[in-house]
Amino acid sequence: MKLGVNIDHVATLRQARGTVYPDPFDAGRVCAEAGAHGITVHLREDRRHIQDRDVERLIAARPLPINLEMANAAEIVAIALRLRPEEVCLVPERRQELTTEGGLDVVGQEGALRPTVAVLRDAGIAVSLFIAPEPRQIEKAAALGAPFIELHTGTFCDASGAAAEEELRRLIEGAQLAHRLGLKVNAGHGINLDNLPGILRIPHLDTLNIGHSIIARSVFVGLREAIAEMLRGMAQAPS
Ligand code: PXP
Repeated sequence: MKLGVNIDHVATLRQARGTVYPDPFDAGRVCAEAGAHGITVHLREDRRHIQDRDVERLIAARPLPINLEMANAAEIVAIALRLRPEEVCLVPERRQELTTEGGLDVVGQEGALRPTVAVLRDAGIAVSLFIAPEPRQIEKAAALGAPFIELHTGTFCDASGAAAEEELRRLIEGAQLAHRLGLKVNAGHGINLDNLPGILRIPHLDTLNIGHSIIARSVFVGLREAIAEMLRGMAQAPS
């Protein structure tokens, strides 16, 4: 199982003061040195953290494969087609949200998503759709020809007790269904060292995309060690 580190919040810290540091480009290099397998950046339409120049520099230098998270918006799709990251993860985006809320409604937005998935795929970019573990969304993602889904783990990570167990059951069954349909399965949102053991019960996982908890932990132990801790935790996955 691979770890993709979302470095958006390195840019959040920079943007908060309008400085040139901390530089997400440097964070990308540390991710590679620390043994992560990929870098995720979310180029939001409001550019609240990662900027176009960050994405350009990271993709040009490619310290690791780049997963570009983005809304299905014409301006951002054009950027992806110009820069050609290894992977694009399409997410829903709302201006007011603190972070991505909910998964994509692939069923409801099939008409808008189909041409985007096709044009990205034709450009050689692996497309992933960020969705809740709902069977009809997973089936539609497979029908659209996206090679990957990313299961939204945020609901599980925010829940406790019986609600968490129920959401974990949905994630496990969602991953099983996706695997049967030939989809590769990533997971992300809200994952930290405390809820990781539950996440590791989800089968067929290719990559975990983790951001906030790693960057938060790096304030105390440094980014390299925060990534190493997460990799050690992931190594406890049942084989
Ligand atoms: N995956 C997706 C699709 C996301 O939108 C995010 C948040 O940007 C993440 C993973 C990482 O979530 P977190 O920062 O909570 O680890």
